[in-house]
Amino acid sequence: MGIVVFDRVEKIYANGTIGLKNLSLTIEKGEFWLITGHSGSGKSTLLKLLYGAEFPTRGGVVVQGIKVIPPNLTKLRRQLGVVFQDYKLIPTRNVFENVALVLQCQGYSPLELKKRTSVALKTVDLPDRGQCYPNQLSGGEQQRVGIARAIVHSPPLILADEPTGNLDPENTWQIMQIFHKLHQSGATIVVTTHDRQWLNNNYGYKLLELNHGSVSSKSF
Ligand SMILES: Nc1ncnc2c1ncn2[C@@H]1O[C@H](COP(=O)(O)OP(=O)(O)O)[C@@H](O)[C@H]1O
Ligand SMILES: [Mg+2]
Repeated sequence: MGIVVFDRVEKIYANGTIGLKNLSLTIEKGEFWLITGHSGSGKSTLLKLLYGAEFPTRGGVVVQGIKVIPPNLTKLRRQLGVVFQDYKLIPTRNVFENVALVLQCQGYSPLELKKRTSVALKTVDLPDRGQCYPNQLSGGEQQRVGIARAIVHSPPLILADEPTGNLDPENTWQIMQIFHKLHQSGATIVVTTHDRQWLNNNYGYKLLELNHGSVSSKSF
């Protein structure tokens, strides 16, 4: 059984808009998937159904054996980290606090929290920026903090919704390298993007293309 299983998932939003139509997909441990497709094709919907920000109207989603339903969200969130296009850092907290918050919520001891936060900031090559506030960092640096926050609790699954959508090619490349490094150290990764820089890269991604909520192509 895969680390992620979508079983005949349909998502229709309250206003009747179709988010996803009858998606069946298995993601195995250690795979790196790119989800692509034009704007409105259902990429963010697919990820939201994985991290429990939305729920299917038909079918089911299972992550690490945990069914994605409201009572399981706390358990689910220990299994994954999410990176957003607009970073979603808390402006009134410094970098260290932004990254450490996840651990605080999960009840880690202060010592463990400090150790893990430092390791995460080193992994994204920002070892000395803990005391900075988000608005003192460039976009690329803010996204690296976003990645540190997503990985600080060592989740087996990392999700990223257009993580380089606001970045220039140089910063995009840096972020791609960080994801490759995380993948090489064993993480399963799902990234949505319509950026050629990802799609033209020959890293060995599995590719799923969506079109109006349906799978229009899959390549392995
Ligand atoms: N909360 C929502 N309410 C109603 N419609 C939504 C909502 N979120 C997304 N949609 C619609 O669902 C479809 C898929 O959206 P989305 O998954 O955000 O696509 P993408 O990320 O590929 O741009 C679009 O038609 C979008 O307008
Ligand atoms: Mg989107």
